Amino acid sequence: CVSKDTDVLLTVAPYACQRQTPLTHQNSEIIDALEKLGKAAALRGSEVRSLAFTRAASVLKSLPIRLQSADQAKNLPFCGGHCQTVIQEILEDGVCHEVEALQTNEQYQCMELLTSIFGVGVHTAERWYKDGVRKLSDLDDPNIKLTADQRAGVTHYTDLQRPVTREKADRVQHLIKNALHRFVPDLEVTMTGGFRRGKQQGHDVDFLITHPDGEALSGLLKKAVDWMDSQGLLLYHHTRVRSRVQAHRRNVPMDGHETCYAIVALPNLDTSKAGAGVGSDVTFPGARAWRAVRVDLVVTPYDEYAFALLGWTGSKHFERELRRFSWHEKNLSLNSHGLYSTEKQCSIPATSEEEIFALLGLQYVPPQYRNA
Ligand code: CTP
Ligand code: MN
Ligand code: MN
Ligand code: MN
Repeated sequence: CVSKDTDVLLTVAPYACQRQTPLTHQNSEIIDALEKLGKAAALRGSEVRSLAFTRAASVLKSLPIRLQSADQAKNLPFCGGHCQTVIQEILEDGVCHEVEALQTNEQYQCMELLTSIFGVGVHTAERWYKDGVRKLSDLDDPNIKLTADQRAGVTHYTDLQRPVTREKADRVQHLIKNALHRFVPDLEVTMTGGFRRGKQQGHDVDFLITHPDGEALSGLLKKAVDWMDSQGLLLYHHTRVRSRVQAHRRNVPMDGHETCYAIVALPNLDTSKAGAGVGSDVTFPGARAWRAVRVDLVVTPYDEYAFALLGWTGSKHFERELRRFSWHEKNLSLNSHGLYSTEKQCSIPATSEEEIFALLGLQYVPPQYRNA
């Protein structure tokens, strides 16, 4: 039995960190459908099903060719079963019925709306949905308690829904660097997240902050945040100090770095309306001289910088796969603080992303190919 050409050609490594995933790809319609179904599963609390769709979508993102048939994908990792039906429907009808059904699914639409608020996760959205919340204005009910994050998320909802362009991200960077450099002039500030992976827009702007001298970092974030606040540049901030305890414990993928989740008031370029500062005209957005932008600031000790850079560049799925690969294939625990051998009970240091990939026995994947 001779296999068809296509079966031979299409091979994809099983872990996303073993392959190159560019920003744009050949099978967007199928990928969008799979990601929507993955999101729907997550919003129903089915993490396992959600991950299956996410993995299938990610595999297709790394395919260099446009699929002609579902059969062509059937031997690719995670692309069998349910995923086959989705591919077939999209290729034959241009739409996937399961995805179409989501458009008229009230629970899905509502859960999507609520989880798109800053500070609202699936758990909270579910509780609110059960309590009858269907639209943003339903959250005005005094019986519904909002956290400070969520309150800010609702207040600035419209601005935060608009994608942040690279041009705006660059202006945010200028603003953030200006604030930080007032306190430590030679501080290293790097834009991470989606923009480092080459995305042209994002839902926020992420920064990683470090300095070889640990003393320079001590208390810095608070001072810089307080200064920005005093200048009317902050609409909201939630600063968290470093918790060393969590650092190398497994099953704590997120990190204990000092972080600030902020909403910045980015001044508009058109200065003719200047003078309408923060808090002046929230009900008439056209008259405002600023726009709300979500910003994440993370401070890392110098010896953890490479790990933090790798961990905060993403994509989320790429990170998840890196950790899964490290653990299952190398028996090593990776997070944004370091690499840890549970067997030898010691940390393995590294000073660059290239070095970390090498330590894991992986070929280096540049940021623009981590869009898994
Ligand atoms: N991250 C993290 N801990 C958090 C939040 C995020 O380690 N508490 C990491 C994520 O794993 C991701 C990176 O930070 O690798 C950026 O996250 P995020 O800003 O949510 O996503 P982006 O890839 O930047 O996409 P977007 O353009 O939507 O912001
Ligand atoms: Mn981001
Ligand atoms: Mn972020
Ligand atoms: Mn650490």
